Amino acid sequence: MPITQVIAIDGPSGVGKSTVAKAVANHLGWTYLDTGATYRAVTLAWLEADSDPSLLEQPTWLQNLGVDFQAGDILLGTRRVNKAIREPEVTANASFVSAQAAVRTYLTELQRQIARKRPCILDGRDIGTVVFPDALLKVFLTADDAVRAKRRWYQIGGDQANQTLDEVLTALQERDRKDSSRTLAPLKPAKDAWTLETNTLSQEEVIDRIECEARRRFKIN
Ligand code: DC
Repeated sequence: MPITQVIAIDGPSGVGKSTVAKAVANHLGWTYLDTGATYRAVTLAWLEADSDPSLLEQPTWLQNLGVDFQAGDILLGTRRVNKAIREPEVTANASFVSAQAAVRTYLTELQRQIARKRPCILDGRDIGTVVFPDALLKVFLTADDAVRAKRRWYQIGGDQANQTLDEVLTALQERDRKDSSRTLAPLKPAKDAWTLETNTLSQEEVIDRIECEARRRFKIN
């Protein structure tokens, strides 16, 4: 199978990448790979190992974690960590962990291995620029900070969430700043990415546009 059987969806936090990528994957019958979840899984393991910075430089430690996807679950060895990787402490530390060279080398290779086996939609920050620069369709989703913060806040429960909208906005801006300014694989659109500004689009409209474009480029009826 050609490596270009890949759709790359990149963009900042809270822009709706995962919901959109999951839906498009469903409609096309492709596999969805949430690359952010792989960075979060390493972050969780690292926090559980007392946040020793030297571990993040050790390829053997990283490989032994056994990060994997199975039937929609994100695994650390045999342990399902879908919920644990969404905890605020993991979210707050993920930018630091994902800026480490050995972590990126390990996870980039893992993501390539998974996606080479089947048609895949991957979402993340560097899919179109680093992981699959030859992907046939690269989408870069954007939306204003306030719009993204609101979407994220509703996602975590709105009024019932344990964070205020302002706290969500501040955390999101801080994460964007770190993800965009790091030296390795910073968040940015690939030169040949299709930038889709989603401020005034509904989720269904975004899904629809990407699906239409995917069907056109990959010649799927
Ligand atoms: O998309 P997310 O919030 O689940 O991502 C978690 C962290 O991982 C975030 O700080 C950015 C980082 N990340 C990355 O550096 N490269 C990717 N391809 C995906 C996520």
